[in-house]
Amino acid sequence: MTSHELDLPSLRLLTERFARIAGAVVLSHYERPHTETEKSSIRDVVTEGDQASEEILLSEFRKHTPNFGVQSEEKGGFDVEGGRYVWVIDPIDGTTNFSNNLPYFSISIALADAATNRPLVGAVYNPVYNEMFSAALGHGATMNGRPIQVSSARSLDRAVLASGFSYNRDTHEIRNMKQWTAMLAECRDLRRFGSAALDLCSVACGRLEGYWEGSMNAWDVMAGLLVVTEAGGTVTDYVGAVSDALYNGVEVVASNGPLHDNIVAVLVRTGARA
Ligand code: IPD
Ligand code: CA
Ligand code: CA
Repeated sequence: MTSHELDLPSLRLLTERFARIAGAVVLSHYERPHTETEKSSIRDVVTEGDQASEEILLSEFRKHTPNFGVQSEEKGGFDVEGGRYVWVIDPIDGTTNFSNNLPYFSISIALADAATNRPLVGAVYNPVYNEMFSAALGHGATMNGRPIQVSSARSLDRAVLASGFSYNRDTHEIRNMKQWTAMLAECRDLRRFGSAALDLCSVACGRLEGYWEGSMNAWDVMAGLLVVTEAGGTVTDYVGAVSDALYNGVEVVASNGPLHDNIVAVLVRTGARA
Protein backbone atom coordinates (compact mmCIF):
# COMPACT_ATOMS: atom_id res chain seq x y z
CA MET A 1 0.00 0.00 0.00
CA THR A 2 1.41 3.46 -0.83
CA SER A 3 0.75 6.59 1.18
CA HIS A 4 -1.40 7.83 -1.71
CA GLU A 5 -3.96 5.20 -0.86
CA LEU A 6 -4.58 6.95 2.45
CA ASP A 7 -7.01 9.85 2.55
CA LEU A 8 -4.56 12.32 4.07
CA PRO A 9 -6.97 15.31 4.33
CA SER A 10 -9.44 13.17 6.33
CA LEU A 11 -6.65 11.77 8.48
CA ARG A 12 -5.48 15.29 9.16
CA LEU A 13 -8.92 16.25 10.48
CA LEU A 14 -8.97 13.10 12.59
CA THR A 15 -5.50 13.95 13.94
CA GLU A 16 -6.67 17.45 14.86
CA ARG A 17 -9.67 15.92 16.61
CA PHE A 18 -7.42 13.59 18.64
CA ALA A 19 -5.19 16.56 19.59
CA ARG A 20 -8.21 18.58 20.77
CA ILE A 21 -9.51 15.68 22.84
CA ALA A 22 -6.11 15.24 24.51
CA GLY A 23 -5.77 19.02 24.87
CA ALA A 24 -9.02 19.20 26.85
CA VAL A 25 -7.78 16.45 29.16
CA VAL A 26 -4.44 18.22 29.67
CA LEU A 27 -6.18 21.55 30.35
CA SER A 28 -8.27 19.90 33.07
CA HIS A 29 -4.98 19.26 34.92
CA TYR A 30 -3.43 22.66 34.19
CA GLU A 31 -2.89 25.13 37.08
CA ARG A 32 -3.69 22.41 39.62
CA PRO A 33 -1.31 20.57 41.92
CA HIS A 34 0.72 18.10 39.86
CA THR A 35 2.10 14.70 40.68
CA GLU A 36 5.57 14.26 39.22
CA THR A 37 7.56 11.08 38.70
CA GLU A 38 11.25 11.27 37.82
CA LYS A 39 12.43 9.53 34.65
CA SER A 40 16.09 9.75 33.54
CA SER A 41 16.98 12.50 36.05
CA ILE A 42 15.48 15.04 38.44
CA ARG A 43 14.98 17.34 35.43
CA ASP A 44 13.18 14.76 33.34
CA VAL A 45 9.74 14.15 34.82
CA VAL A 46 6.36 12.76 33.83
CA THR A 47 3.19 14.25 35.34
CA GLU A 48 -0.37 13.03 35.74
CA GLY A 49 -1.18 15.29 32.78
CA ASP A 50 1.21 13.44 30.43
CA GLN A 51 -0.25 10.11 31.54
CA ALA A 52 -3.89 11.18 31.17
CA SER A 53 -3.19 12.60 27.71
CA GLU A 54 -1.46 9.43 26.58
CA GLU A 55 -4.24 7.25 28.00
CA ILE A 56 -6.99 9.04 26.05
CA LEU A 57 -4.95 9.09 22.84
CA LEU A 58 -4.21 5.36 22.99
CA SER A 59 -7.89 4.60 23.52
CA GLU A 60 -8.90 6.86 20.59
CA PHE A 61 -6.35 5.15 18.34
CA ARG A 62 -7.61 1.69 19.31
CA LYS A 63 -11.16 2.78 18.54
CA HIS A 64 -10.59 4.59 15.23
CA THR A 65 -7.39 3.19 13.69
CA PRO A 66 -6.79 -0.31 15.10
CA ASN A 67 -4.56 -1.19 12.13
CA PHE A 68 -2.03 1.53 12.87
CA GLY A 69 0.88 1.13 15.29
CA VAL A 70 1.77 3.63 18.00
CA GLN A 71 5.07 5.03 19.21
CA SER A 72 4.47 7.09 22.33
CA GLU A 73 6.84 8.79 24.74
CA GLU A 74 5.67 7.45 28.09
CA LYS A 75 4.50 3.90 27.38
CA GLY A 76 6.42 3.12 24.25
CA GLY A 77 3.20 2.23 22.41
CA PHE A 78 2.34 -0.87 20.46
CA ASP A 79 3.15 -2.37 17.10
CA VAL A 80 0.53 -3.84 14.83
CA GLU A 81 1.97 -6.77 12.96
CA GLY A 82 2.44 -5.88 9.32
CA GLY A 83 1.19 -2.37 10.10
CA ARG A 84 2.72 0.14 7.74
CA TYR A 85 1.48 3.28 9.51
CA VAL A 86 2.32 4.44 12.99
CA TRP A 87 1.11 7.23 15.25
CA VAL A 88 4.13 9.01 16.74
CA ILE A 89 2.95 10.99 19.74
CA ASP A 90 4.14 13.24 22.51
CA PRO A 91 1.24 13.47 24.99
CA ILE A 92 2.69 16.73 26.39
CA ASP A 93 5.64 18.38 24.69
CA GLY A 94 6.88 20.95 27.19
CA THR A 95 6.26 19.04 30.42
CA THR A 96 8.55 21.34 32.42
CA ASN A 97 6.38 24.31 31.37
CA PHE A 98 3.15 22.41 32.08
CA SER A 99 4.42 21.39 35.49
CA ASN A 100 5.30 25.02 36.36
CA ASN A 101 2.04 26.34 34.88
CA LEU A 102 3.81 28.16 32.06
CA PRO A 103 1.38 28.23 29.11
CA TYR A 104 3.77 26.96 26.42
CA PHE A 105 3.25 23.23 25.86
CA SER A 106 1.53 21.10 23.27
CA ILE A 107 0.14 17.77 22.25
CA SER A 108 2.07 16.53 19.22
CA ILE A 109 0.66 13.79 16.98
CA ALA A 110 2.09 12.57 13.67
CA LEU A 111 1.09 9.70 11.43
CA ALA A 112 4.29 8.32 9.92
CA ASP A 113 5.01 5.81 7.21
CA ALA A 114 6.98 3.13 9.05
CA ALA A 115 8.69 2.06 5.83
CA THR A 116 10.28 5.47 5.30
CA ASN A 117 10.20 6.94 8.85
CA ARG A 118 8.65 10.10 7.37
CA PRO A 119 5.48 11.95 8.47
CA LEU A 120 2.31 11.92 6.36
CA VAL A 121 0.09 13.98 8.67
CA GLY A 122 0.82 16.05 11.76
CA ALA A 123 -0.98 18.15 14.37
CA VAL A 124 0.53 20.21 17.19
CA TYR A 125 -1.96 21.79 19.60
CA ASN A 126 -1.40 24.37 22.33
CA PRO A 127 -4.58 24.01 24.43
CA VAL A 128 -3.98 27.16 26.51
CA TYR A 129 -3.77 29.42 23.46
CA ASN A 130 -6.19 27.22 21.50
CA GLU A 131 -3.75 27.17 18.59
CA MET A 132 -3.95 24.14 16.31
CA PHE A 133 -1.14 23.71 13.80
CA SER A 134 -1.55 20.92 11.28
CA ALA A 135 -0.28 19.64 7.94
CA ALA A 136 -0.76 16.79 5.51
CA LEU A 137 1.89 15.81 3.00
CA GLY A 138 1.29 17.76 -0.21
CA HIS A 139 -1.68 19.65 1.27
CA GLY A 140 -0.03 22.62 3.04
CA ALA A 141 0.05 23.74 6.66
CA THR A 142 -2.51 25.66 8.69
CA MET A 143 -3.02 27.30 12.07
CA ASN A 144 -6.64 27.09 13.22
CA GLY A 145 -7.60 26.30 9.63
CA ARG A 146 -5.83 29.27 8.01
CA PRO A 147 -2.85 28.60 5.70
CA ILE A 148 0.50 29.55 7.20
CA GLN A 149 3.89 30.23 5.67
CA VAL A 150 7.43 30.83 6.81
CA SER A 151 9.09 34.23 7.30
CA SER A 152 10.64 35.97 4.31
CA ALA A 153 13.70 37.28 6.25
CA ARG A 154 16.94 37.07 4.30
CA SER A 155 19.63 38.07 6.76
CA LEU A 156 20.61 36.28 9.94
CA ASP A 157 21.21 39.51 11.84
CA ARG A 158 17.45 40.20 11.61
CA ALA A 159 16.47 36.68 12.61
CA VAL A 160 15.03 35.42 15.90
CA LEU A 161 15.87 31.76 16.47
CA ALA A 162 14.97 29.23 19.14
CA SER A 163 16.81 26.23 20.51
CA GLY A 164 16.82 23.95 23.56
CA PHE A 165 18.95 21.84 25.86
CA SER A 166 18.43 18.14 26.33
CA TYR A 167 17.82 16.39 29.65
CA ASN A 168 21.02 14.34 29.38
CA ARG A 169 23.20 17.21 30.58
CA ASP A 170 24.03 15.43 33.85
CA THR A 171 25.69 12.57 32.02
CA HIS A 172 26.79 14.30 28.79
CA GLU A 173 28.69 17.50 28.13
CA ILE A 174 26.21 20.37 27.58
CA ARG A 175 26.79 20.31 23.86
CA ASN A 176 24.64 23.22 22.83
CA MET A 177 26.36 25.98 24.84
CA LYS A 178 29.02 26.69 22.22
CA GLN A 179 26.41 26.79 19.47
CA TRP A 180 24.10 29.03 21.54
CA THR A 181 26.93 31.54 22.13
CA ALA A 182 28.03 31.56 18.48
CA MET A 183 24.45 31.91 17.17
CA LEU A 184 23.70 34.74 19.61
CA ALA A 185 26.51 36.75 18.01
CA GLU A 186 25.04 36.23 14.53
CA CYS A 187 21.30 36.77 14.92
CA ARG A 188 18.94 39.38 16.38
CA ASP A 189 18.06 37.24 19.40
CA LEU A 190 17.56 33.73 20.71
CA ARG A 191 14.73 32.08 22.65
CA ARG A 192 14.45 28.91 24.74
CA PHE A 193 10.70 28.31 24.95
CA GLY A 194 10.61 24.64 26.03
CA SER A 195 8.43 22.84 23.49
CA ALA A 196 10.28 21.60 20.42
CA ALA A 197 7.02 20.84 18.59
CA LEU A 198 5.72 24.40 19.11
CA ASP A 199 9.11 25.89 18.21
CA LEU A 200 8.92 24.11 14.87
CA CYS A 201 5.38 25.42 14.32
CA SER A 202 6.59 28.93 15.17
CA VAL A 203 9.10 28.60 12.33
CA ALA A 204 6.28 27.38 10.09
CA CYS A 205 4.08 30.43 10.74
CA GLY A 206 6.88 33.01 10.59
CA ARG A 207 7.08 33.84 14.32
CA LEU A 208 10.63 32.50 14.28
CA GLU A 209 13.12 32.49 11.42
CA GLY A 210 14.79 29.31 12.58
CA TYR A 211 15.30 26.62 15.20
CA TRP A 212 17.93 23.99 15.98
CA GLU A 213 18.19 21.35 18.67
CA GLY A 214 19.67 17.88 19.13
CA SER A 215 19.40 14.78 21.32
CA MET A 216 15.61 14.60 21.06
CA ASN A 217 13.29 11.81 19.89
CA ALA A 218 10.95 11.21 16.97
CA TRP A 219 7.87 12.16 19.03
CA ASP A 220 9.30 15.64 19.71
CA VAL A 221 9.68 16.53 16.04
CA MET A 222 7.78 14.23 13.64
CA ALA A 223 4.63 16.39 13.44
CA GLY A 224 6.38 19.78 13.61
CA LEU A 225 8.83 18.92 10.82
CA LEU A 226 5.94 18.27 8.44
CA VAL A 227 4.25 21.53 9.47
CA VAL A 228 7.48 23.40 8.61
CA THR A 229 8.01 21.82 5.18
CA GLU A 230 4.33 22.17 4.25
CA ALA A 231 4.58 25.87 5.18
CA GLY A 232 7.47 26.28 2.72
CA GLY A 233 10.37 25.95 5.18
CA THR A 234 13.49 23.80 5.10
CA VAL A 235 14.43 21.03 7.55
CA THR A 236 17.74 19.16 7.77
CA ASP A 237 20.17 17.64 10.22
CA TYR A 238 23.22 19.56 11.50
CA VAL A 239 25.15 19.11 8.25
CA GLY A 240 22.32 20.13 5.95
CA ALA A 241 21.11 16.62 5.02
CA VAL A 242 17.65 15.06 5.21
CA SER A 243 18.48 11.96 7.21
CA ASP A 244 17.03 9.61 9.81
CA ALA A 245 18.91 11.66 12.45
CA LEU A 246 16.56 14.50 11.53
CA TYR A 247 13.29 12.54 11.81
CA ASN A 248 14.47 10.74 14.95
CA GLY A 249 15.16 14.11 16.58
CA VAL A 250 18.89 13.52 16.97
CA GLU A 251 19.83 16.68 15.01
CA VAL A 252 17.22 19.15 13.83
CA VAL A 253 17.58 22.44 11.97
CA ALA A 254 14.44 24.17 10.69
CA SER A 255 14.31 27.51 8.94
CA ASN A 256 12.44 29.73 6.53
CA GLY A 257 14.74 28.47 3.73
CA PRO A 258 16.89 31.49 2.76
CA LEU A 259 18.65 31.44 6.16
CA HIS A 260 19.16 27.69 6.32
CA ASP A 261 22.75 27.54 5.05
CA ASN A 262 23.79 30.34 7.42
CA ILE A 263 22.39 28.46 10.44
CA VAL A 264 23.97 25.15 9.36
CA ALA A 265 27.29 26.96 8.79
CA VAL A 266 27.38 28.10 12.43
CA LEU A 267 26.63 24.55 13.62
CA VAL A 268 29.36 23.09 11.41
CA ARG A 269 31.86 25.78 12.41
CA THR A 270 31.26 25.15 16.12
CA GLY A 271 31.56 21.37 15.75
CA ALA A 272 27.95 20.69 16.82
CA ARG A 273 28.19 17.16 15.50
CA ALA A 274 31.55 16.26 17.07
C1 IPD B 1 11.17 18.47 25.62
C2 IPD B 1 10.79 19.79 24.99
C3 IPD B 1 11.93 20.78 25.08
C4 IPD B 1 13.20 20.22 24.46
C5 IPD B 1 13.56 18.88 25.05
C6 IPD B 1 12.37 17.92 24.91
P1 IPD B 1 9.21 17.08 26.82
O1 IPD B 1 10.11 17.54 25.54
O2 IPD B 1 10.47 19.62 23.63
O3 IPD B 1 11.65 21.97 24.41
O4 IPD B 1 14.24 21.13 24.68
O5 IPD B 1 14.68 18.38 24.33
O6 IPD B 1 12.71 16.68 25.47
O7 IPD B 1 10.12 16.31 27.71
O8 IPD B 1 8.67 18.28 27.45
O9 IPD B 1 8.21 16.18 26.18
CA1 CA C 1 8.85 16.21 23.99
CA1 CA D 1 6.58 14.74 26.53
